[in-house]
Order: sequence, then structure tokens, then C-alpha cells
Amino acid sequence: MAHVSDLISTDIEKYLKQHENKSLLRFITCGSVDDGKSTVIGRLLYESKMLFEDQLAAMENDSKKWGTQGGDLDFALLVDGLAAEREQGITIDVAYRFFSTDRRKFIVADTPGHEQYTRNMITGASTADVAVILIDARKGVLTQTRRHSYLVSLIGIRKVVLAINKMDLVDFSEDVFRRIDEEYREFAKQIGLTDITSIPLSGLKGDNMTERSLHTTWYHGPTLMGFLETCEIDETRLQQQPFRMPVQWVNRPNLDFRGFCGFIASGVVKPGDRVRAQPSGRESKVARIVSLDGDLPQAVAGQSVTLTLEDEIDISRGDVISIAESPAEVADQFEATVVWMTEEPLLPGRPYLLKIGTQLVSATITEPKYKVNVNTMEHLAAKQLEMNEIGVVNLALDRPIAFDPYTENRDTGGFILINRMTNNTVGAGMMHFALRRSHNIHMQPVDVDKAARATAKGQRPAVLWFTGLSGAGKSTIANIVEKKLFAMGRHTYLLDGDNIRHGLNKDLGFTEADRVENIRRVAEVSKLMVDAGLIVMTAFISPFRSERAMARSLMSEGEFIEVYVDTPLNVAEDRDVKGLYKKARRGEIANFTGISSPYEAPELPEIRVNTTNCTPEEAADKVIARIRQLGLID
Ligand code: ADX
Repeated sequence: MAHVSDLISTDIEKYLKQHENKSLLRFITCGSVDDGKSTVIGRLLYESKMLFEDQLAAMENDSKKWGTQGGDLDFALLVDGLAAEREQGITIDVAYRFFSTDRRKFIVADTPGHEQYTRNMITGASTADVAVILIDARKGVLTQTRRHSYLVSLIGIRKVVLAINKMDLVDFSEDVFRRIDEEYREFAKQIGLTDITSIPLSGLKGDNMTERSLHTTWYHGPTLMGFLETCEIDETRLQQQPFRMPVQWVNRPNLDFRGFCGFIASGVVKPGDRVRAQPSGRESKVARIVSLDGDLPQAVAGQSVTLTLEDEIDISRGDVISIAESPAEVADQFEATVVWMTEEPLLPGRPYLLKIGTQLVSATITEPKYKVNVNTMEHLAAKQLEMNEIGVVNLALDRPIAFDPYTENRDTGGFILINRMTNNTVGAGMMHFALRRSHNIHMQPVDVDKAARATAKGQRPAVLWFTGLSGAGKSTIANIVEKKLFAMGRHTYLLDGDNIRHGLNKDLGFTEADRVENIRRVAEVSKLMVDAGLIVMTAFISPFRSERAMARSLMSEGEFIEVYVDTPLNVAEDRDVKGLYKKARRGEIANFTGISSPYEAPELPEIRVNTTNCTPEEAADKVIARIRQLGLID
């Protein structure tokens, strides 16, 4: 290592101990390479004196070869080496760098400023205490500055350093500095950022980086390193909040021990504290706090511990243990801000997985109330959210969860959204509040239930979900199947795409979003009809796996039978019963399935029929035979 503390050679133990006891500050840097971001980070690393000899040698070499500083050290090369790796396809969306000084340890998240910036910023900022926002003194506050600041405030970072860089290029002008500082403060107020420290810098020349600059005698604030080394860290604030511990797993090595393990998101806990398991609401007292170093008299935010309780209450992974006198809220409908991070848009009505703390639930999202233009902060109407867009939406979950508003607790109020099919993270969100109706609307228990109605009809209710391309033969086959079932004395109902689109769904077209909503409604209606004891047939293209999976999840085990009418596109197109394929090929119908809109074939349908070489009658017989096999009819 370069110029590291002398203790390393004289008393390594003492050095390591010192290191261990230092506080840790996490910060994020926002800005582009043009603002001199890499140079600023590079210099922080260099001046922290924690560079490795080989890194230093490489930088000296590279500076001579490629450096833009006439042979002087080019600090940007330190950081941009990593950027180059990134471009070679080693995708590090956020680069975390660790450095340390005598006073503190630091983790800096460096996020590339390109088009995926929202995703990267959310990832990098989610744990940060401070945001360093870079400004090129010649350019002042830019759209990008506003955008980054808005995200920073959204993520809940309260402390901002406005690093007004390249002061050497504006003659260290106090006027320029004041103007930028004032303009930024004016804007920051609107988005709720008030804790701002502006520092006049030259990352390149080193002014006000670690040493006070002689060029800015008019400036009396801290240097950048000075600020980072001394600013207050949020740890204490988290400890003052009510106790929350999302349960990661239940440790039950034998019948005598049941421990609930997790990371304490906020607050303090002691044996004897009355706690509540959420969402169930059951209460008990903390018996012990077990750790690797023996039982603890108390534990605080940031620690991972195992709690045992005085009573045997049912708690599982995903539940939250809260202090009983100030518990989290429990609800299944919310208002929240959602940041969309992936190319396929957020589609209202499509089920996503929502992960909050250690809880994983199924969630659907309504049409956005509005989206925010992150350049002007204007609220705009929106039907869906595209990549990098931020909107305010209502969410409905399939069961209640415990949560806190994001502004009170980042851990129990922040969530991510996951695509059910690919398992990719597609969005991030912040809980605002529970919707009142989620407390006010209760399921009404009914005495005549599905089982009673099914028994009266002498049948097992189910849905036969026909899916396939337009013209595949879904309606024709479903119609014959219904006739046959009817002739056997079964109680049936056929929901057909074309018919439903004339009534219940006449407001919907064929965009992806409308198709999602089409199928969502049909799935809900099918569920009601199954509940009424009927054997339901649906004939919809239902092109997306997600929505078919959602329909399946609404029914009980064995009630959902997917019938894939597997007629290849060329066969359906040759038949072209309604003349629609011709029109679509001529470009007269937009989003036509199989031509300009995708069809995602079922992977494991209960029944598959290919109508290329069989008549609809034969296909219907095959369906009947198969549902008999499945025990649906005798
Ligand atoms: S779905 O995709 O939302 O499930 P649905 O089954 O309700 O579609 O409706 C499909 C029927 O609408 C087709 O059989 C066809 O008659 C008609 N149609 C009109 N425009 C389109 C289109 N762009 N894509 C597919 N079908 C269309």
C-alpha cells in the first residue's frame, strides 16, 4: 500500500482495531464524467492514502500514456478503468468503492449516468446516507442535476453535498459559486431537500478536496473530505424509531427452541419487551436475544439477531416483529410511488411479485394517478409507466402485509417489484399510506358456499381456459365442448372473447395494457362463475403467460384447466375465417397477435389440441376425454 498509517508496520493489531471502531459513511455520487465525477472520486481515493502500490504505479503509467493532464496524475483513470470494464460487458451497474481515512470508513456508490440511470441510482442510493451531486461551475444547475436530486429525495437521502467543481475554470469566482448555490437551494426546497452543503472544488487541482484552498479565501465551509469525515450519520435516528424486525427465517433445531432470526430495521429491543407479530397481530414478550457471542441485554437497528418469545405464537418468514405499543400498519391496498426500471412497461392489472422486507406477495397496480416529469416536477396523466418513469399508483395485494410509510422507515416502507415469469426486478417503490377502503371492505362470509352449490348441481366446478391464436379454433371447439357437457346434464357457461368485447369489455382494445385488463376481468368473472358451481369455458387469445398464470392463481387446485389450441400461425392464417390476417398483413390492424403482437405459448397446458389434422368435433372429443381422466366428469 502507498502511504498508509505507520501503525501497519509497528502495531498491526492496533491498526486493525482502530479500523474496526471507525464509523462507516455510505454515499453516492451523481453527475456525469463531464462534470469531473471520476476525477473527484479518484482524488478522494488517492488522498485517503488507501491506494494500493500497484494501482498507483498503474495510474502513473497510464497518466503518462493516456492522461489528459500533460503527464501529471490523471485521477479519472483510476475510476474509468472500471468504467471500461463495464463497457466490455462485465455489467457492474453500480460500482462500489471502499476507502478509509484515520477518522472514518467510506463506501462510495458510483453510478454511470447513462440511460439506465434510474435503476442504477436507486440501487446505489438505497443505502446511502449522503449524496454528492456534482456540478460543472461553468454550466450551473442542469436538468440532470434536478433529475438526480429528485431521485435522491425520493429515495430518502436527506443530506446533500453540492460539489461545485471546476472552479479553476471560472477563476474561483465567488459570484459564480453563490449564484449556483442559490439557484440550487431554491429548487431543492420544492422537493423537500434542505440539508445542503455547497463546496467550491477543483477535483483536478485539488482545491478544497482535503486541504482548504488559497484560491477561495471567501469560502469558510468544510472541504469535501472534511465534510464526509465529520457529517452526522443517520444511525441514531434509526435507533430512535419503533422496533421492527422482518423475520428472515425461523430457527427450530429441536422442539425446545424456536428462534426468529432477522436484521433489525429500526429501534431497540430488550428481553421483556412486549412485541407483536404482524400481519397476524398476535402478541408475546421477548424472552431472549440470542447471538453468536451469547445472550444480549439489548439489540439495536443494524444488528442481526435471533429472538425467542415467551409464548408459542405462530410466526413465519416474511412476518414482521414490531414493538407492541407502536406497531407497523397492516393493509392490503396502498398508495405508493413507483419507479419503473425495465424496458417492458408497467402494465396496470398485470400481477407482479412485491417484495417488502422479507415478505413476498402478489400485487397488481392500478392505472397511475399521475407520472412525474423529473425535469420539471410537473404531474402528467399516464396510462402506464415506461422505463425510467416515476408515477404514483394504487397497489392491491393478494393478502395483507405489515409496512411503514417510506418516509418513516426505508426498510419497512420500500419495496421492489419482480416480474413473475422472468424473476427480474422491474421496479422499485415507496409506500405512502394504506388506502382506507382496505380497512373498510371486508369479505362477507356467506353460508351457501361453492361446495354447497357444486353439490346441488352434482358436479365439480372448473374453468376450461382455451388459449391460442386468432382463428385457431378456440370458440368453435369450446362451443362443441359446451354442447356435449350440456347434453350430459352439466351446468356450464361459455365466455367468448368476441362476445365479451361487445359488452363487459367494450371499452378495451388490443394494446398490451388493454389485453391485460381484458384477461383480468375475464379471470375474475370466471372465478365468480366457478364459485357459483359452474363448469366455465373461456375462449380468449390470452396471449401472455403472466395473465394466464394470474387466472390460474385465482382458482383452487385442480380447478383451472388450460386448453392450448395449438394451431400454427400459417394454418390459422390460411383459414383466415374472419379475413383479419389479410387486413393485418396489409397493416390495417395494429397489434395483431402472431403478426405485430406476441403470443406466448403455454409451457405446460393440461390439454393440448392441434387442429391441423383434426376436425373441431374430434378436438372437442379429446378435451372431453381428458377432463374425464382428470376426474372432472364421470
Ligand atoms: S385477447 O388478446 O385480449 O385475449 P380476445 O380473445 O379478447 O383477445 O379477442 C380476440 C379477437 O378479437 C380475435 O379473434 C379477432 O377476432 C379480434 N381482433 C381484433 N383486433 C385484433 C388484434 N389486433 N389482435 C388479435 N385479435 C384481434
